[in-house]
Amino acid sequence: MTRKDNYMKIGVFDSGLGGLILLKAIVKKLPQYDYIYLGDTQRVPYGNRSQTTIYEFTREAVDFLFKKNCQLIIVACNTASAVALRRIQREYLPKYYSNRRVLGVIIPTAETAAKFSPVGVLATESTVNSGAFVRELKKLNPKVTVYQQSAPLLVPLVENNAIKWAKPILKDYLSPLLKRKVKGIILGCTHYPLLKSQIKNLAPEVKIISQDEVIPAKLADYLKRHPEMGRQLSRNGRRELYVTDLTENIQVKAKSWFGEAKLRLAKLGQR
Ligand code: DGL
Repeated sequence: MTRKDNYMKIGVFDSGLGGLILLKAIVKKLPQYDYIYLGDTQRVPYGNRSQTTIYEFTREAVDFLFKKNCQLIIVACNTASAVALRRIQREYLPKYYSNRRVLGVIIPTAETAAKFSPVGVLATESTVNSGAFVRELKKLNPKVTVYQQSAPLLVPLVENNAIKWAKPILKDYLSPLLKRKVKGIILGCTHYPLLKSQIKNLAPEVKIISQDEVIPAKLADYLKRHPEMGRQLSRNGRRELYVTDLTENIQVKAKSWFGEAKLRLAKLGQR
């Protein structure tokens, strides 16, 4: 049952459970605000789907979060940020919620990573194919050299609580980047921070750029630069967590990261 409330929240959306790590980091930095999380656990992974499907899924998620009174939405999913965000901002937002905002994770991550060259990008197939990281990195530093590596097996490992099997797969994905002597590697997917320590062990000389360490400060900075947005957000320290499928793995993760905050079921696609 949905209940009408007057809170104006920050929404965080991801295709699955990975975005919870980002939410946890954001909440740590900015605990005062009210947050609502949506993980599309029923339809994860997005990373190997068509652009049309990724846009549709993202639009439905954004729609859900706006109806739950989000004033600001962070699209934590890199795939959705890379493939669908611009269209959401240009077409959907002016039509339905012109005084609200949807932000992505690609640009703030590129801002942190552009000083490393050559830089590697580890991401899903769709994010790599979109060229979004390359485009944003080159806008910030036209001389930067970027090498991309898609890593389609990592999201299923994380979603299935099977990261103990990740090492040989990670070795394989990292090897072409390490051969190019990259100075930094962007973990360009919400799920990869869960593999951060394994990645650091395999690439000890390389700066690992992980969004849970980047986005909270960028959001704080955004709210400072947009005080009119900050004023509209309610501050009661509330957290609501929604998923489209109550999988066992996400229940365990949500409990360990957010204590007793109850996971609720979301139905998407109802306009
Ligand atoms: N959450 C997505 C991202 O950050 C990856 C997972 C997926 O493929 O759905 O790119």
